[in-house]
Amino acid sequence: MDQAADSSATQPLLLLLLLGSLTLAVSLLVLIGHGRGGKARLPPGPPALLFLAKFVALRRSIFDLGPLLVDLHARHGPVISIRLFRTLIFVADRKVAHRALVQGGATFAERPPPADPSRMFTAGGRDIASSPYGPYWRLLRRNLASEALSPARVAHFAAARRSACDGLVSSLLTQKEEAVTLRPLLRRAMFELLVFMCFGARLDREALDEVEELQHQALLSFTTFPVFAFFPAVTKKLFRGRWEGYLALRRRQEEVFVPLIHAKRGDGDPPCYAESLLAVRASDGGRLTDAEMVSLCSEFLNGGTDTTVTLLDWIMAELVNRTEVQAKVYEEVKANPELNDLQAMPYLKAAVMEGLRLHPPGHFLLPHAVQQSGDGDVEIGGYAVPKDAEVNFLVAEIARDEAVWTAAREFRPERFLEGAEGHGVDITGSREIKMMPFGAGRRMCPGYSLGIHHAEYFVARMVRELEWRPPVDGEEVDMAETLDFTTVMKRPLRARVFART
Ligand code: HEM
Ligand SMILES: *[C@@H]1O[C@H](CO)[C@@H](O)[C@H](O)[C@H]1NC(C)=O
Repeated sequence: MDQAADSSATQPLLLLLLLGSLTLAVSLLVLIGHGRGGKARLPPGPPALLFLAKFVALRRSIFDLGPLLVDLHARHGPVISIRLFRTLIFVADRKVAHRALVQGGATFAERPPPADPSRMFTAGGRDIASSPYGPYWRLLRRNLASEALSPARVAHFAAARRSACDGLVSSLLTQKEEAVTLRPLLRRAMFELLVFMCFGARLDREALDEVEELQHQALLSFTTFPVFAFFPAVTKKLFRGRWEGYLALRRRQEEVFVPLIHAKRGDGDPPCYAESLLAVRASDGGRLTDAEMVSLCSEFLNGGTDTTVTLLDWIMAELVNRTEVQAKVYEEVKANPELNDLQAMPYLKAAVMEGLRLHPPGHFLLPHAVQQSGDGDVEIGGYAVPKDAEVNFLVAEIARDEAVWTAAREFRPERFLEGAEGHGVDITGSREIKMMPFGAGRRMCPGYSLGIHHAEYFVARMVRELEWRPPVDGEEVDMAETLDFTTVMKRPLRARVFART
């Protein structure tokens, strides 16, 4: 109703006051706690109020603090902490990350409890990404892996991938402007593919438009300023317009998804993710609720679309800027016209790996937390981790470490070829972490092989069928970054495309 309530200029001030008093209270409690003689120290960090002032001035999510964090790490070292609504810890060191996520087993496999609106969009923390480490999470993660992401299932969708790329290539060629913007067309193609894998159905254009928009709005709510994490009863009144918008968004999402989930499926239809969710039974025989299934499907669509599309936008941008790299990919895919065996294309695979290293779609993992039930003090990099801490890992910083990669800020697929520094790098990070675009350990992205496969297949098709040039010959591509849900190109790639003959 009262939308104006959301744009008033007094809000940053109000927030600062709210946050300030909260932080003061928390700091006092922590000080008292310290007085009682804890051994290990908290990781170093800036004074909370100073940080808050900058944070509120930016009015974005903690994931949008890239430059601020880099600065703080330079000053305080690879592990820092900031006391806000809870203790936020940031880890920028690959060895500390490996010890915590891999060698630490389940110690950091927990997630912080979601605050609204994430809580509402995840049906109370009931999707895979936000559910607590435990039997429910294990059941659904196994279901996703075996019923939707297994190699046999992925093979089943080869025809759907081909038709998604057919559509993409023809839409790229029929644009009227001289230079096309890749991202929206790519997003539509990828989204259509994931919708098909999720619901086993093809939607008409209007329905797709709506579902795509709903999903994007829901996703953005995760990375806008988390106002409702602070005094929800108060902030939901203060920001009533925004909160009601989220409620309406969720209602619409349920209206659209529930019939798709329960749709009758014939024998000939490919087995889809929704169908597997209908068949899930907990150990006590319980079924998933509609709200849970809506959130799980929403997670599937977002997990599989935005990340991969962002990665592809970056890779194609690098191929537009570096004609010699594009030419090498082309030579390889041209010699393999059926694209049946991507394994036989080491340069293509190297280009995708280099995209994942230099432009990881998520510059942070999802926040991790320590297990409440665990006994003993938890440490990270020699510092104490309080029970309520939220631990974040700086994915992009780790993969751009000059001590590990030569010319770490340059796009060089060659580094992943046989005999070079990145050859055979372990993308799961189990032995050691040199890059971790999908995380590592128990919470690592379960969709990593599908994500890589989609990226390789789409690059192969886009390069085999089209030649890509910058809008003006010789012009450099602008690689500036900005945060959407993922870290996207500030200026999405525009290019001229020509059909290969
Ligand atoms: C290039 C593509 C992708 C990238 C870069 C990516 C990245 C990530 C990252 C960084 C995480 C967090 C890991 C952590 O917190 O430690 C994650 C989690 C997750 N991803 Fe992906 N992902 C991709 C594709 C996919 C696909 C295709 C799916 C499924 C269709 C998927 C489903 C999930 C799920 C369910 C989680 C939560 C796992 C858990 O909490 O146990 N992702 N992903
Ligand atoms: C574009 O490619 C050239 C080499 O072809 C390279 O020197 C330059 O740094 C690249 N630009 C960006 C923004 O990556």
